[in-house]
Amino acid sequence: MNFQISTISNFQITYMKFFIDTANLAQIKEAHELGILDGVTTNPSLMAKEGIKGEAAIMKHYETICEMVDGDVSAEVLSTDFAGMVEEGKKFAAIHPNIVVKVPMIKDGIKALKWFSENGIKTNCTLVFSAGQAILAAKAGATYVSPFIGRIDDSSWDGIQLIEQISHIYTLQGFKTEILAASIRNALHIVRCAEAGADVCTCPLDSILGLLKHPLTDIGLAKFLEDAKKM
Ligand code: E4P
Repeated sequence: MNFQISTISNFQITYMKFFIDTANLAQIKEAHELGILDGVTTNPSLMAKEGIKGEAAIMKHYETICEMVDGDVSAEVLSTDFAGMVEEGKKFAAIHPNIVVKVPMIKDGIKALKWFSENGIKTNCTLVFSAGQAILAAKAGATYVSPFIGRIDDSSWDGIQLIEQISHIYTLQGFKTEILAASIRNALHIVRCAEAGADVCTCPLDSILGLLKHPLTDIGLAKFLEDAKKM
C-alpha cells in the first residue's frame, strides 16, 4: 500500500487520494472547485458519452483536463496489441507530464506496462477483477492498478474484499503499485475503500457529493438558521 504523505510538524499523515471518474468538463470543474480533487480517470465509454471523436479531439480533451486539474489524468489506449499500445501511450504521455497511460489487463497489456515502466511513463492497469491480475500488474511495474468494485458487486462478488486482499498482498510483498479503486457506485463505496486500504478512489461526482449528505446536518442547520433570527 503506497500512501500520499503529508508532513505536519513531526507527524506523518497518510490519506486516500480522490480522483473524479468522468470526461465531463463541468463535473471536473465542480469537483476541482471543492478543493479536494487529486486527479481524473477517463475511459472510452466516458469519452464517447461526451461526444469526443477523432484523434485530434481526444488529444485536445486530455490536454484541457490536464490544464484544469493539477494531478494525474488517466488516458486509455484503444489498441490491444503491444506495439499499438506503446505508440498510443507515447503520444498521450507527450501531451502533459500528468498523463497516466491506462492499459487493459491483457497479455500484451502486461508487456506494455513493463515497457512504459522502464521508459518512465506512468500507467494505470484497468479492468482488474482479481488479486492474481493485481499481482501481475504490480510485477510489470504499473503505477496504479484499478480493481472495478461496482462491477464486481454487480456480479454478486465482494468488490471491497478484493481491495482488502490486494492491499494485504501489496503490503506483504512490498509492491509499490498504488491501488486505485474504480467503478465506484455510491458514497458508501468511498468510505469502505478508505477502510480497506485503497490509495486512490476514483468516483463519479454524485458519489463524492453523496459524502456530504446526512439528514441530521440539514435539520441541525435549519434550526441554527431559524434561531439565528432571534440573535
Ligand atoms: C475507471 O478508471 C473505470 O474505467 C471506471 O471506474 C469504470 O466504472 P463503471 O463500472 O461505472 O463503468
